[in-house]
Amino acid sequence: TIAGLTATEVLDSRGRPTLAVTLRLPDGRSVRAGVPSGASTGSREAVELRDGDPRRYAGKGVVNAVGNVNAEIADLLRGREFPDLASVDRALIEADGTDTKARLGANAIVGVSMAAARAFALLADRPLWRYLAPAGVTPRLPVPHFNVVNGGAHAPNRLDFQEFMIAPLGAPDLAEAVRAGAEVYAALRRRLADKGFATGLGDEGGFAPEIDAPEDVLTTLVDAITDAGYTPGHHGVAIALDPAASEFYRDGSYHVAGESLSTGDMIARYEAIVNRFPVWSIEDGLAEGDWDGWVELTARLGGRAQLVGDDLLVTNPAIVAEGIDRKAATAALIKVNQIGTVTETLETMRLCREAGWAQMVSHRSGETEDTFIADLAVGTGCGQLKTGAPARGERVAKYNRLIEIEAGSDLPYGRA
Ligand code: PGA
Ligand code: ZN
Repeated sequence: TIAGLTATEVLDSRGRPTLAVTLRLPDGRSVRAGVPSGASTGSREAVELRDGDPRRYAGKGVVNAVGNVNAEIADLLRGREFPDLASVDRALIEADGTDTKARLGANAIVGVSMAAARAFALLADRPLWRYLAPAGVTPRLPVPHFNVVNGGAHAPNRLDFQEFMIAPLGAPDLAEAVRAGAEVYAALRRRLADKGFATGLGDEGGFAPEIDAPEDVLTTLVDAITDAGYTPGHHGVAIALDPAASEFYRDGSYHVAGESLSTGDMIARYEAIVNRFPVWSIEDGLAEGDWDGWVELTARLGGRAQLVGDDLLVTNPAIVAEGIDRKAATAALIKVNQIGTVTETLETMRLCREAGWAQMVSHRSGETEDTFIADLAVGTGCGQLKTGAPARGERVAKYNRLIEIEAGSDLPYGRA
C-alpha cells in the first residue's frame, strides 16, 4: 500500500527541469526516483509532458507533470492494495489512457513506476537489482560502455557521430573495467591536449573536440587505449559507436563530415570502420525511418558487430517484436523513459532474451543522480550498460553503484 506520493520539479544534469518522485510507505519509510530526459529522442518514444510556458525554463517546465503525480496519480494509487509492480504500472497505463502516455506524461509515469519498484524491493527486503531479476535469469555485472567522445546533439562541436564509447570487454571484473575506463579517459585527455584540441566536456561527460571525421576520433581512441596499457579489442578494451544517425539523415542522405552518403554508402563506411578499428558494437548506425537500410545493414554486418536499435526501437515491445521479425538489428537499447514503465521495459528485455537478441541498458543525456539503471542492468543479467563518461557526478553515480553491488555480492562480470 502506498501512503503518500509526491513529485517536485528539480534540475537534471543539463540544468533543465525534471521530476523527483517520493513514495512513502505506511511504516514511514520512503523511496525516491529521478526522471531522465533525452536530447536525440526517437519519434516513437513515450511523450514527456512539458509545460510549454515560455515564461518558465523556456517552456521546458514540468509543473503540469508534477501536478499530475501529486493529484491524479496519488489519488489513484494511495490506499489501494497492489500485489506487484505490474499491477501498479497497469493502473498507470489505464489511467493515462493514451498510447504514448501523453496525457499524464511519460516523465510523471516513469518516475512513479521507478519509485514503486524501489518500494516493492524495500518491502521484500531485497536490493533493487535482485527484486528486478526475472525468474530463471542469472544477474551479472554488465560491461560498462564509457562514452568518452561526444558529438552530434550532445556537444557544440562539428563531429556528426554522437557517441564514441570504450568497452572493457576483457576486464576480469567490474572494478577493473571501471579502472580501465578511467585510465583510458585520462590518456585520451592527454592525447587530445597534446594535439591542441580543447578538452571541455559534452552532455555525457565525454570530450568534445573539433574533429570532423569519425575515423580520426577512432585513431585517437585506439592510441589512448594503448597509451593506458590496454589491448585494443575484444580481449582488452573495445570500442562501441552510437552515431545516432537519425540526427544527420536529411532528404534521404546521411551527412557525415561534409559528405552526403546513401544508405549503401553508409553501410560500406561502417564495414570499413569495422575492418580497420576494434569496433564491436554500432547503435543507431542508420536512421529510425530507414528500416530497409537496417535490414541490409544487419545482413551485411550483423555477424561481425552488434547492431543496436535505439531510436529505431524505443524500448517498445511491439516495435522490438517487429524488429526481431524483420531481422532489422541484433540488439536493443533499453531506456526506461522511452516506454514509460518498468514493467514494459522488462517485457521488452524478455522479448529480446527469447529471440537471442542482446540488450544494452542506457542512461539519457539529461540525467539525475538516480542509479536505477545500474540495478536494472545487473538484475536482468543483460551484460551491457552505457551511462556516459567516467566523469560528472550523474554518470559516475551509476558506475559507483555497480562497484557497490559487485563488492557486496559474488556476481559474474561480462557480456551475457
Ligand atoms: P539521448 O541520447 O538521451 O539524448 O536521447 C542517448 C542515445 O542516443 O543513446
Ligand atoms: Zn542512441
